[in-house]
Amino acid sequence: MQVLDRTTRPGPVTHRNPPLLPRLQERFEQKFMAHWESQWGGKPILHGSNPGPNSIRLDGNDYLGIAGHPDIVRAQIASLQHNNESVIQSGVFLLDAHPCRTLEASLAAWVGKEDGFVCQSGYSANVGLLQAIADEQTPVYLDSLAHTSLWEGARAARAPAHAFRHNDPEHLSRMIERHGPGVVVVDSVYSTTGALCPLVRMVEVVEQHGCTILVDESHSLGTHGPQGAGLCAELGLTDRVHFITASLAKAFAGRAGFFTIPAAMRYYVLHNSYPNIFSSCLLPHEIAGLAATLEVVRGCNAERVRLHANTRRLRASLSSMGYPIHQGSQQIIALETGTEPATMVLRDQLEAHQLFGAIFCAPATSRNRAMVRLTLNAGLTEAEMERIEQTARTLLPVLKPWDWPIARRARTEQV
Ligand SMILES: Cc1ncc(COP(=O)(O)O)c(C=O)c1O
Repeated sequence: MQVLDRTTRPGPVTHRNPPLLPRLQERFEQKFMAHWESQWGGKPILHGSNPGPNSIRLDGNDYLGIAGHPDIVRAQIASLQHNNESVIQSGVFLLDAHPCRTLEASLAAWVGKEDGFVCQSGYSANVGLLQAIADEQTPVYLDSLAHTSLWEGARAARAPAHAFRHNDPEHLSRMIERHGPGVVVVDSVYSTTGALCPLVRMVEVVEQHGCTILVDESHSLGTHGPQGAGLCAELGLTDRVHFITASLAKAFAGRAGFFTIPAAMRYYVLHNSYPNIFSSCLLPHEIAGLAATLEVVRGCNAERVRLHANTRRLRASLSSMGYPIHQGSQQIIALETGTEPATMVLRDQLEAHQLFGAIFCAPATSRNRAMVRLTLNAGLTEAEMERIEQTARTLLPVLKPWDWPIARRARTEQV
């Protein structure tokens, strides 16, 4: 396989590879490579420089700073050393005595639901669950910023998918009146902007129209609610929400996904969820690590307080400097420069000050709404918070954030 170097264009297709279909060759050359050259200056947009020892990393989702926690590592090591379960099979075969079932029961009880399923990723949780709970006759209503895996789930179910305006329950209500009851899909905290879902009002609309609601809690599980049990728990909505899903690669700092299921429907869902039938379960040490992680996460009250304090502080200081970050309110902060070349400049400027975020562009955002996403965590020290603020201040004359399209749009909307 050819390795792409950051500084060089991917080379021509070589003699090692048989010729590609002309259609693929054309898409590769005329769409992707043309864009690569014209917009990205011949470099991969997603890769900047290598972080150094003094870098501040705001490009990961370990919100509570628990990666490498000794309790988690100990549990993983003990499992690797002593586990004698050697059968790796699809998760749907695991019997009730399997440690994964214990983990599922613990996670479900924690968020306040009857039962749940642990799978390889948040992506397969969303696709697999939606595939089971929607079909050709069931409209799926998705917030326009809902995570891509949720859209893919509607597609896997062959369900008619309808986008409603971001965080707009009244628009959702009008859409349901037009197309009939179905599955409403929202994120608790939106992964690109850090916006919080108006969940109480969403649930009211769902109940008013006899719909079902799925809440993706990937960015609130562990960070919001009592002992981190999530936004539904925080708002007292758990019993009014039908399904909760989450990636365990955010506050859990692991690599897995989870969704809740009413106990009576467990086998129905598992018999209809292809990513979870036709793919394997987690490895024993991953399950042991996640079980230990759950206990660590529950005990992280001080970290949750710090995370939210860091969020409030940085949002307030960036806003007062003129950064247009009004789209969100939570621990994800979008610096939405708009065009991809402008976003690469922003990324490079931040990295020159040893500050690392992550570029999000199409297909993770719509075209010309590219951004550098800063993800805060509980472990940021006072000195690091000051450095972030100082960097943002220093770069103001270079970046002119008040001229970004999102800032101009906000001004027009205010008038
Ligand atoms: C809201 C949301 N849902 C689901 C996922 C997918 O999670 P995973 O990385 O575990 O597949 C993500 C991760 O990008 C996400 O942000």
